[in-house]
Amino acid sequence: MPFHSLEKVEALHDGYQRSFEVNGLQLLLIHQQGRSYLIENRCGHFGVPLDRATLYEQSIECNQHYIRFDLNNGEVLTPNAGQCDPLRIFETVIEDGQIGFTL
Ligand code: FES
Repeated sequence: MPFHSLEKVEALHDGYQRSFEVNGLQLLLIHQQGRSYLIENRCGHFGVPLDRATLYEQSIECNQHYIRFDLNNGEVLTPNAGQCDPLRIFETVIEDGQIGFTL
């Protein structure tokens, strides 16, 4: 599986958030509380981008209908969220000072 580089590790800081497109896949790289998360940039509810979502310590809340997702595993945290898929999560990989993922 090839490594897809997204960003220099040294560019990451708490509050970092940037979207990427790789092979037609919309991604969102987040650095929060010293940890990096890579998720599909698509809400599991109505599929809107999550660029403007609110970040919490280990979760993200979509700004459309305020459904919150766990950044570690993509699970829906909001009770009674109705028809909503979990977020697609990607494991980050660091190679030669670059953070990215394999696909
Ligand atoms: S589209 Fe994200 S919560 Fe509804």
